[in-house]
Amino acid sequence: MKALVWDYNKINLIEKEKPTIIDSRDAIVKVTLSSVCTSDLHIIKGFVPKAVPNTVLGHEFVGEVVELGADVKNLSIGDRVSANCETFCGECYFCKRGFINNCENGGWKLGCSIDGCQAEYVRVPFADTGLTKIPDNVSYENALFVGDILSSGYFGVELCELKQNETIAIIGSGPVGLCSMACAKLFNPSKIIAIDINSTRLNLAKELNLADYVFNPNDCDIEFEINNITQNRGVDCVVEAAGGNNTFELAWKIARANAIVAVVAMYEENQVLPLPQMYGKNLIFKTGGVDAVHCKKLLEYISEGKINTDFLVTHKYSLDEIEEAYKLFEDKNSNCLKIAIY
Ligand SMILES: NC(=O)c1ccc[n+]([C@@H]2O[C@H](COP(=O)([O-])OP(=O)(O)OC[C@H]3O[C@@H](n4cnc5c(N)ncnc54)[C@H](O)[C@@H]3O)[C@@H](O)[C@H]2O)c1
Ligand SMILES: [Zn+2]
Ligand SMILES: [Zn+2]
Repeated sequence: MKALVWDYNKINLIEKEKPTIIDSRDAIVKVTLSSVCTSDLHIIKGFVPKAVPNTVLGHEFVGEVVELGADVKNLSIGDRVSANCETFCGECYFCKRGFINNCENGGWKLGCSIDGCQAEYVRVPFADTGLTKIPDNVSYENALFVGDILSSGYFGVELCELKQNETIAIIGSGPVGLCSMACAKLFNPSKIIAIDINSTRLNLAKELNLADYVFNPNDCDIEFEINNITQNRGVDCVVEAAGGNNTFELAWKIARANAIVAVVAMYEENQVLPLPQMYGKNLIFKTGGVDAVHCKKLLEYISEGKINTDFLVTHKYSLDEIEEAYKLFEDKNSNCLKIAIY
């Protein structure tokens, strides 16, 4: 089969053996659609220490179950499934507490330390927890982002404990930030404020009615604008989904006293926590590699029409063209949000 592997700063589409069942809890999935994630770029650049070179890339996908290990209980051959970007056993200390990102037998494996989904077939360990059946009225394309980007967006909102009528600022209007906005709407906040240096993305957030206010730090003073619409208090909740030069600082500055600041972004450099400046603001910071535990619920929201992530697919490429797709995804000047690889 065809598969995309990486080596430092290089990717190659190669011919590889089709994966087979290794453990009785595995499934083999025929990939119908996959996507490229910012984290794939972090791997190729060498920023992910546990990533193994020459592994098949990719952890965001949907597909059809074609083979099952003897101990898989909840799936059948032919099921249409959405995959979780996290591999988790469901039984260890962390899994039992819902912290699947820290599973003692899993974690981020697919496309990182074991072969991932940018291929024709993929082996999914712990298939009962790693795969979720897609409802009949949801297409593969509708479900493509459930196990990674949409889960991450939801996770950010959940971390900052958004409540009805509260204000939430989301820094970064990339795929994760936009998904956070879509998920924030489920909680009926009073205002969703989108912040990004990319005006095209901000305009999209506004057009899709995902944000009530959009602010570009290059055009205005964000703290001033936020104070203006929050009676000088700052916002109740912040999701930092940008990972830019000064976005961690911006996140705590625009938070009101006693707010929760959720840091979903992955930084390439250390950040400064200036405690003397924050003294008395009594902030709570939460950080997170996504605990993607809500895939079933998110698929239900999609099925009920409460969330729709179809707008994220700005480009489509075949697996044969995946090297082109990476070039486009990496190009900061392209208007690409997410790519569907078929
Ligand atoms: N925690 C997790 O499990 C998890 C999962 C997926 C992605 N991520 C991380 O979340 C972040 C967002 O992911 P994405 O796919 O949306 O990435 P992205 O790069 O497409 O989006 C980031 C956005 O932030 C904006 N930005 C950059 N610098 C800025 C600044 N100084 N001020 C305002 N906006 C700025 C960019 O213009 C861009 O639109 C990344 O850091 C990614 O690695 C984390
Ligand atoms: Zn990802
Ligand atoms: Zn576990």
